[in-house]
Amino acid sequence: MAQSKPEQSRLIIHDLARRNGRTEFARDVRSGLSSYPKQLFPKYLYDELGSRLFEAICEVDEYYLTRAEDKILTSYADEIVRAIPNCKTLIELGSGSAQKTRKIIEALIRGCGELLFIPVDISATALEKSSHALLDSYPNLKINAYAADYFEALEALPPLGPDPALVLFLGSNIGNFEPDEAVDFLSAIRRVLRRQDALLLGADLKKDARTLEAAYDDSLGVTRAFIVNELERINRELDANFDLWAFGLRSLYNESAGRVEVYLESLRSQDINIRGLDMSISFDAGERIHMENSYKFDLNGLKLLGRRSGFDLERTWLDEEKLFSSNLFRVPEA
Ligand code: AVI
Repeated sequence: MAQSKPEQSRLIIHDLARRNGRTEFARDVRSGLSSYPKQLFPKYLYDELGSRLFEAICEVDEYYLTRAEDKILTSYADEIVRAIPNCKTLIELGSGSAQKTRKIIEALIRGCGELLFIPVDISATALEKSSHALLDSYPNLKINAYAADYFEALEALPPLGPDPALVLFLGSNIGNFEPDEAVDFLSAIRRVLRRQDALLLGADLKKDARTLEAAYDDSLGVTRAFIVNELERINRELDANFDLWAFGLRSLYNESAGRVEVYLESLRSQDINIRGLDMSISFDAGERIHMENSYKFDLNGLKLLGRRSGFDLERTWLDEEKLFSSNLFRVPEA
């Protein structure tokens, strides 16, 4: 049996995550709750508890996205990696626990025998945990991890080696960007890629409103806990007095905009004190805070998104029920 190298020599973690998180959070909460209609930013949903609640969402019956993408990767990982022959570098933006990534890692190692994995995640703790688990499983894997926001990491990446590289952006995370932001983000990925490289993008598909709204308002209440945790975070970190029971979750599919809109709705008129910001705010009964959008796509929309970002959509894989899509984008010939 091949002897594996010790883990330390196969792992580097660059911690570039910004340290002024709390000031930025305070500033965004102040501006979001002073605006009309009120809004809060979805990136703040993912504190430690929020990230665990999101993992729990991926397990609930109504949230089909994770299972559907997993089925695609299980069925087609070998076919996907055959489209990038000799690929020895895998970059994943928003790698989290890197569970689904294992399908692609295994297919690449089956093909080439070795792999450099470059995971990027805002949480250094998540990276450390997932990296050790991956190194344990794959003796021929090296990891060069970046704890950073996506744009920062893309700028900090080392020059790619001569062999092709594959970038992963899975899980429909692209759906949480506004359309112009999605183009900016994919264009930033495009700038680090060369003709021989590729991007695999997971995108949720447009479908009936009932299925979509249930996916974002599950009957166990896990999504409500995930969303309301942002109010709890304001209570904790900014010394506020939100009563979490006084807000209901409203998840609505806006068909013309092609997105699920997620709101918290005040169940009564109420005043809130945010002592850490020296600020009070009032809610009318029925008034909403916009918490996040989750965009849904069709193949034309994906082609157009690719074109606006400097990519060609080369191939799309779907699960059997056609709920979700995995899309291979390539840098077009000059
Ligand atoms: C992380 N992201 C892809 C999720 C989504 O489906 O838009 C966030 C989420 N919000 C509520 N449920 C899941």
